[in-house]
Parts: sequence; structure tokens; C-alpha cells
Amino acid sequence: MAIMSALLTSLLILSFFSYATSLSSNHYAKTCPNVESLIRKAVRDAATNDKKVPAALLRMHFHDCFIRGCDASVLLDSKGKNKAEKDGPPNVSLHSFYVIDDAKKAVESACPGIVSCADILALAARDAVVLSGGPSWDVPKGRKDGRTSLASETRQLPAPTFNISQLQQSFAQRGLSLDDLVALSGGHTLGFSHCSSFKNRIHNFNSTTGVDPTLNPSFAASLKQTCPVKNAKNAGVAMDPSSTSFDNKYYKLIFQQKALFSSDKALLDMTKTKNLAAKFASSKDEFTKAFIRSMIKMSSITGGQEVRKNCRVVN
Ligand code: HEM
Ligand SMILES: *[C@@H]1O[C@H](CO)[C@@H](O)[C@H](O)[C@H]1NC(C)=O
Ligand SMILES: *[C@@H]1O[C@H](CO)[C@@H](O)[C@H](O)[C@H]1NC(C)=O
Ligand SMILES: *[C@@H]1O[C@H](CO)[C@@H](O)[C@H](O)[C@H]1NC(C)=O
Repeated sequence: MAIMSALLTSLLILSFFSYATSLSSNHYAKTCPNVESLIRKAVRDAATNDKKVPAALLRMHFHDCFIRGCDASVLLDSKGKNKAEKDGPPNVSLHSFYVIDDAKKAVESACPGIVSCADILALAARDAVVLSGGPSWDVPKGRKDGRTSLASETRQLPAPTFNISQLQQSFAQRGLSLDDLVALSGGHTLGFSHCSSFKNRIHNFNSTTGVDPTLNPSFAASLKQTCPVKNAKNAGVAMDPSSTSFDNKYYKLIFQQKALFSSDKALLDMTKTKNLAAKFASSKDEFTKAFIRSMIKMSSITGGQEVRKNCRVVN
């Protein structure tokens, strides 16, 4: 029975998320040879004016890939009665959509109708990591854009309150392993978090204790100061003290009990994930290698059908 249902589940996953074998590094070599430098310029220009841009693009790509595959569904605007993903509940940190619009405009004027918005976002996420001092890698291309975006489906994203088994399941449903979970969580070396994402750990943690006892006490106290029960709407903290630089500091912080989310701290709750986190904390090189491998895996979950003319509306 267990084997049967495991088999069925993997069949379902395989048919739902197609791992397109057609993605390739040289997909646009003939049809749009300058695509990568055009996108890099749009990302660099925006990041020069706004240091928050790289983190936004990395998270946007993750959200895109976790719902309907990397098909640019996260970029569609709500229309009429249809509320799109970007207007769904965990959207607080999604911003800087204009950067993708700028990149698309540049790419359309060079090679109209060729480059998908999903590919632009995957490349922009890679460029964001590079601009933050992280590694570069070859991004496989050839994704197609989807025609559906539903706010209700953002419920399928992992929540910051998830424990290790919930995280494992969320990743496994997308063909991603525990190794991928630990490596990709390192994306939290960049960016900003609102109080709402970690308030479960500092107010009314459970019926016996107000603050999560696995939080470093002075760190918890400073979080409470920034985020009182009734905090300002935009209040929050940097994901790590070097939140514009892509490094392995995130893993060191987890072991100092200064991880922000329950889902970050949860990486220590299973031997396998704890050992991996320890390896990444002690070696930036090991982290970098694993992050690249897992980014390529996550960004190869495809799902779309068309090449959108405008990233905000279906053709
Ligand atoms: C493992 C499951 C994950 C959970 C539960 C999670 C949850 C969150 C939450 C709650 C925030 C803060 C939102 C806010 O309050 O503004 C956040 C921010 C962020 N996440 Fe994750 N995340 C996960 C995985 C990832 C992955 C795989 C990546 C990319 C590789 C990523 C990249 C980011 C970045 C860059 C930010 C900062 C965004 C900004 O400053 O605009 N996260 N994440
Ligand atoms: C987030 O969603 C809410 C509704 O759930 C919407 O009012 C708000 O404009 C959205 N924010 C962004 C940045 O898209
Ligand atoms: C994780 O949370 C789920 C749902 O609340 C619960 O059923 C499960 O027992 C928890 N697992 C662990 C390891 O705490
Ligand atoms: C509250 O959390 C602490 C630490 O995880 C735990 O020891 C305690 O049993 C929890 N209490 C309840 C009522 O769940």
C-alpha cells in the first residue's frame, strides 16, 4: 500500500511538473544572442538605484517556480475578477516587478516575440546573486510562460512557521530534495523580513512560553523591540547583518540561534539537514557549489505554453 501510494504520488508529481528536457544554455544563441547582457544591464541599473532589488528578484523567481513551475505566473497582474498570485497573501515581500518590465522592453526591441518572461526572471535572479557578490552560473533557457495565475494558489508556498517535515514535503512535491532545501534556504542571506514573518517566535510562542526558547535571548529581545505586538506596517529586520552580500553567514547564524524564521531554525531539527547546514557554515565554497546545483534544479521546473509579449498580461 505504502509503495503503491508513493508510486502514485511520484507519477502525479511527474505529470504535473514537467522537467522540460528542451532547456539549454544556448537556447537563444541564434535568435537573441545579446539577451543575457540586455537583462544584466536592466538588473544592474535598477540595483544601482535601489539596493533592495537583488533580494526581490531572487525571491520572485523562487515564488514563480513553486507555483505552476517557473512559468512567470508570478508576474501576471490581476484582471477583472481574477486575483493573481502577486495579490495573494504571502506577497508582502514581492516588489521590484518594474525591473522585469524594463528587461522585457529591452529584449523585445532587440528580438521581438522570442524570449519568455520566465527565462528573463530566471536570468535576472542569477544576475541578482552575482551583483550581490555571489557566484555566477550558466542558466538553462527555453521556458515558456503560463496563462494562469491565481492568488489562492499562493497557499501552496512554504510558510515561515513550517517545521522540517512540512518543508521536506513542500520541496519533495516539486521534485526537490533535503539537499536542495538546505542549499536554497541560503537565499536568506539576502534581503529583508517583515515582523509578521517571525512574530510567532517572539509573541505567544505557545501556552507555556512567550518567546521561542531556541532563539538567542538577546537576539529575541532586539526582535521584540523592533516588532512589538502592534508594530508599524513596514517594520522588520534584515535577513542577516550582511543582507546585501551573498555569503554563507546565514548558516553561521542558524547555529548561533539567530535564524529569523522557524523554517530556518528547523534545518537543525533533522540530522541530515543539520549536517549539511554545518558544512555550509564552515565552507562558503561548499555552499556556493550546492546553491548553484539546486538553483538550476529549481529553475528547471517548467510549466508554460507561450512567449508573452508583455510580462503582466497573457497574449
Ligand atoms: C524554505 C522555504 C522558504 C520559506 C518558508 C521562506 C520564507 C520567507 C519569508 C517569510 C520571507 C520574508 C517575507 C517578508 O516578511 O517580507 C522571505 C524572504 C526572502 N526569501 Fe525566502 N523562504 C523560503 C525559501 C526561499 C528560497 C528557496 C529562496 C531563494 C533561493 C528565498 C529567498 C528569499 C529572499 C531573497 C528573501 C528577501 C526578500 C526581499 O528582501 O525582498 N527564500 N522568505
Ligand atoms: C498584496 O495583496 C493584497 C491583498 O491580499 C493587496 O491589497 C496588495 O496590493 C498586495 N501587495 C502587493 C505588493 O502586490
Ligand atoms: C510538523 O507539523 C505538522 C503539522 O502541524 C505535524 O503534523 C507534524 O507532527 C510536525 N512534525 C514535526 C517533526 O514536528
Ligand atoms: C512550548 O515550547 C517549549 C519549547 O519548545 C516546549 O518545551 C513546551 O512543551 C511547549 N509547551 C506547549 C504547551 O506546547
